Amino acid sequence: MRSDAGTVPGQRSEDDHGPHGPMACRLGFGCASLFRLRGRRERLRLLACAYDNGIEHFDTAPMYGLGASERELGAFASGPRGNVTLLTKFGRSVAPLGRAARPLQAPLGRRVTAALDTIAREGVVRRVNAALYRPPDYGVAAARGSLEASCRRLGRDRIDILAVHDPPPGVLPPDDLPGWLDEACASGRVGAWGLAGHHSTAVAWGHHLDRPLPVLQYQSDYRSAPVAGMADSYITYGFLRGQLARIRSLLDTRPDLCEHWSGRLQMSLAGDGLADALLEHELAKNVGGVVLIASSREQRIVRAATVAHRHAQQRPAERIRRAAILTDFATACRLASG
Ligand SMILES: NC(=O)c1ccc[n+]([C@@H]2O[C@H](COP(=O)([O-])OP(=O)(O)OC[C@H]3O[C@@H](n4cnc5c(N)ncnc54)[C@H](OP(=O)(O)O)[C@@H]3O)[C@@H](O)[C@H]2O)c1
Repeated sequence: MRSDAGTVPGQRSEDDHGPHGPMACRLGFGCASLFRLRGRRERLRLLACAYDNGIEHFDTAPMYGLGASERELGAFASGPRGNVTLLTKFGRSVAPLGRAARPLQAPLGRRVTAALDTIAREGVVRRVNAALYRPPDYGVAAARGSLEASCRRLGRDRIDILAVHDPPPGVLPPDDLPGWLDEACASGRVGAWGLAGHHSTAVAWGHHLDRPLPVLQYQSDYRSAPVAGMADSYITYGFLRGQLARIRSLLDTRPDLCEHWSGRLQMSLAGDGLADALLEHELAKNVGGVVLIASSREQRIVRAATVAHRHAQQRPAERIRRAAILTDFATACRLASG
């Protein structure tokens, strides 16, 4: 996933060493929630924090930030930072009402998204989404238009990774889509194509195509088994989403478990260490792949990068030993939480 090394200040090479070891790391930064932050300067500072801590892969989509994420990421990932890998997607786009609502999301920031989260919890998220986003379209004409528009917004003439965005369960690729994607790669317009979606849908597409996908991006957390043999490279997301709170409440009600696993993992799971353990588990599970993180807080990005750098520096025997303990920890959490 790394780009070429260079000598321009701010660029990375395999030999660069930051405070935590080699600068390049296996984390990617997800931009889905970037526009929860109020100001452009704040968002750019967050992206810079990720980059300065060795993150060189960024995930976006035409629908993120109600259509504003690609443009902002493109402006950030230019000049000396032009060596980062960008993944964008197609198949899901913003409806006219969503575009009209775009200017509201930054000024109102977290309050709007918190309100949407509440609405989601109340079960009307589908109606809100239907108003803000167009129905999914995975046809070749839509894919071609989306690729052109993404290139314009990102300010690039080539997309590093172009992924099919979240096909709903049961929806399989139109017959001519894989061929068109292969051609886009052969022409150099796209570096690699992939599929990005929920674990089970990604697996279904992998089986349907009956050949390894170039890139498979799927949701993975402590409850899911790793996917193998279905792609040349893997990107995972969602290892914290919903699961952190679930395990937190489990460990809070079972101090015996918390103490036992803190001892075995040699890290305190009582506080922020739990998120570190879940990240280390995901890095161990997604061997050699990219793990997406997302946070609006710089200190959490720095902390995640520290975990990733520490993981990268482990000797193979130590990495295997810890992976076994982390797998046992995940199994214990799964069994205890039912
Ligand atoms: N179909 C797809 O391909 C697809 C689907 C979903 C997501 N994604 C990508 O994957 C990225 C990550 O998605 P996600 O679902 O994992 O995350 P997410 O829902 O975008 O956000 C991560 C959440 O975890 C919190 N968090 C982060 N670090 C934490 C820590 N150390 N302790 C406690 N809370 C922490 C963040 O809160 P704070 O901001 O307060 O830190 C945030 O609410 C997205 O941004 C998007 O780019 C792709």
